[in-house]
Amino acid sequence: MMGRPLAGDSTQVGRQKMIQIHPLLDGPFREASALNPGEIQVWRVSLAATPARERNLKAGLSAGELRQADGFHFAADQRRFIVRRAVLRCLLSAVLDLPPNQIRYVVGVHGKPALPNHLNPKGIRFSCTHSGDWALIALAVNGELGLDLEMHREIPEVQALAQSHFSAGEVAELTALPLTRQITGFFNGWSRKEAFVKAIGVGLSYPLSHFTVSLMSAHGVVPLAVADDAAMRRRWTLVSLELLEQFSAALVFEANQATAIRCLAWDGD
Ligand SMILES: CC(C)(COP(=O)(O)OP(=O)(O)OC[C@H]1O[C@@H](n2cnc3c(N)ncnc32)[C@H](O)[C@@H]1OP(=O)(O)O)[C@@H](O)C(=O)NCCC(=O)NCCS
Repeated sequence: MMGRPLAGDSTQVGRQKMIQIHPLLDGPFREASALNPGEIQVWRVSLAATPARERNLKAGLSAGELRQADGFHFAADQRRFIVRRAVLRCLLSAVLDLPPNQIRYVVGVHGKPALPNHLNPKGIRFSCTHSGDWALIALAVNGELGLDLEMHREIPEVQALAQSHFSAGEVAELTALPLTRQITGFFNGWSRKEAFVKAIGVGLSYPLSHFTVSLMSAHGVVPLAVADDAAMRRRWTLVSLELLEQFSAALVFEANQATAIRCLAWDGD
């Protein structure tokens, strides 16, 4: 397949560590089997699918996933669910060298899914997110990670929403932005905050005002400040990814986990 460079970057974390963010390339699912301990793979997945492709993908889901799929009111939401869950199975199947229908999940108390130990001798971790007709899936060997994608859309009450979810520093940064940049700034912040709470796996039980992210546009490492918790700040690295126009995307991972982030695309072919 043809490579399609989108963005490439090398960015320093702390004093010694360089994180290499590779350009986005097309990759068939088997590329997942090349995942190694020094890298994180981030897959960009198109959730647009023809009815025939959707039927094919649906055949690979578990009974529980089929029941969940049937619960969607809108056909478009059902299609997106089927495609993202089927592609996750295909990627995990490649990396674990197991048939897709043998993949099982365990779910943490706050809803974070993981692989059961008996299926996972390599210690594979993953995180998933979707927005609009796109999903992202991150895969890593050992070490937790969290991923979030947000499609930019108009929010009339953006300041009020920031007041209730952002830290004081984030609200100040948003307010100082020109009005035309506030939606981008808001979704940059939102995606970075969600990636962090997804990495630590606790969802809303972690107070969102206890940490501060930068809202500026960036491709690469973004400062993350966790109030009163230097250990937490040292443990996690936050990276902003530019994988789609008019979307914000962020990945949070354990700081000693990877030296390279490989971005791969599956656009449904
Ligand atoms: C878990 C949560 C982060 C999901 O976010 P979302 O934007 O609704 O949806 P996303 O597509 O990004 O992520 C969904 C995936 O996250 C994963 N997930 C679910 N709970 C999770 C948790 N506690 N930790 C990590 N990942 C989780 C699942 O893989 C899920 O996929 P599924 O829907 O196929 O089961 C969200 O439900 C939540 O708790 N949000 C609280 C955080 C918040 O309000 N942040 C605001 C920041 S300003």
